[in-house]
Amino acid sequence: MSILIENPEQTEQLALVIGEVAQPGDNLVLTGDLGAGKTTLTKGIARGLGIDQMVKSPTYTIIREYQQGRIPLYHMDVYRVEFGASELGLDDYFEGDGLSVIEWGNTLKEALPQDYLELIINKDESDVEKRTIDFQTFGPQATAFKERILLKLACCQ
Ligand SMILES: Nc1ncnc2c1ncn2[C@@H]1O[C@H](COP(=O)(O)OP(=O)(O)OP(=O)(O)O)[C@@H](O)[C@H]1O
Ligand SMILES: [Mg+2]
Repeated sequence: MSILIENPEQTEQLALVIGEVAQPGDNLVLTGDLGAGKTTLTKGIARGLGIDQMVKSPTYTIIREYQQGRIPLYHMDVYRVEFGASELGLDDYFEGDGLSVIEWGNTLKEALPQDYLELIINKDESDVEKRTIDFQTFGPQATAFKERILLKLACCQ
């Protein structure tokens, strides 16, 4: 299924909800072109988790860890990781006690988490603020995660 986003405020709203309902070991892969809104979404997720520290894109570090929220946030950007992804030890994060958010995660291929929710963010050709976000689930934990997100979005909008 997919949802329509009209402006950055709605992206923020979705992100807050994701941060509020995330459970330990949930994995979220963010897919979308440059400037689609992957980092913007991650910043809102951090706020939803109760993290007030500034979230910066981990492009040059691959991973940034935030421990001060309700559960840990592991923010990864694997745009530049092509070879040897399986040697990075990302599985320890994927199976850990936090929420892993992986920008460009679809490039990991066989090093992807076993169970993950993928959000595919598509820009609109005619409106710079519009997005379509497609939800794809890979595994039962992802399905439960998606359902918690949609339930909370519907209840409070
Ligand atoms: N509805 C929207 N949701 C999210 N961002 C939006 C929206 N409308 C406009 N924007 C703008 O689009 C840009 C998204 O940038 P962001 O860094 O989050 O993208 P990204 O997907 O992480 O890109 P990159 O692949 O380069 O890391 C921001 O400048 C933001 O203000
Ligand atoms: Mg980014």
